[in-house]
Amino acid sequence: MERNDLCWCGSGKKYKKCHMQIDDKLLLLAAKGEIVPDRSMLKTPAQIEEIKKSAELNTAVLDYVAANIKAGMSTAQIDNLVYTYTTEHGGIPAPLGYEGFPKSVCTSINNEVCHGIPDENIILQEGDIINVDVSTILNGYFSDASRMFCIGQVSERAKKLVQVTKECVELGLKEAKPWNHLGDIAYAINSHAQANGYSVVEDIGGHGIGLEFHEDPFVSYVTPKGSEMVLVPGMMFTIEPMINEGSPDFFVDEDNGWTVYTEDNGLSAQIEYMVLITENGAEVLTK
Ligand code: MF3
Ligand code: CO
Repeated sequence: MERNDLCWCGSGKKYKKCHMQIDDKLLLLAAKGEIVPDRSMLKTPAQIEEIKKSAELNTAVLDYVAANIKAGMSTAQIDNLVYTYTTEHGGIPAPLGYEGFPKSVCTSINNEVCHGIPDENIILQEGDIINVDVSTILNGYFSDASRMFCIGQVSERAKKLVQVTKECVELGLKEAKPWNHLGDIAYAINSHAQANGYSVVEDIGGHGIGLEFHEDPFVSYVTPKGSEMVLVPGMMFTIEPMINEGSPDFFVDEDNGWTVYTEDNGLSAQIEYMVLITENGAEVLTK
């Protein structure tokens, strides 16, 4: 690509006024042995515009759940809220049928780490903490975010775990900026969790997103500061650490093949933001 050609990203700008500097810098970093994103991981302005619409709907679905979630309700009713709201607004719930997942949303209560399957026999009880993980496809573009909900009065112990998990994600977000590394986000999250006596789940993590549900890179929240992929404007991925009050060990439900539980039966919380790396930081697209 020559300096005066139109940039590959479709911005309509000349290459020298658009991605040339970034591309040059990435070549240099790669030569030094850094892990750098390839072009397919950098969303174009046109893609960003479309993905943002999907993310807006995703947030609206979460707001709708937030307005309706309460003790006595089954997780199947949450699933119904998500399916109905999403489809009435022109979207498709991304989990539905994804690798055989049977429902429209993941609902993970207390000692469930993630990927809980909504069920009419699972009733929200006063004192429960629950993660509701909503992912949306709109016009072929993907978005993903999750929130924790405290059902009625919950224990101080549960409240603190949810609060610290929120702080972990916010601290991670502060590290999400160009030329930092994914490991900087992980380090911020892991050290805050550990400072509070908690642990961060390994092997299950975040992911690139936008054109697919799960894209590269895999985003770990336990890797060292300065390690992993360099962050570049246009990258889109999730910050979604799972924080356990006890051991980080987990196991997967043998019957349904999905639900992940803490090995020690302790509480687990997760909050997920979907972010876009911008020129000077990160924009949260849905949370
Ligand atoms: N939202 C989950 C994630 O963050 C999706 C899990 S896949 C599903 O990656 F099929 F369980 F939905
Ligand atoms: Co996700």
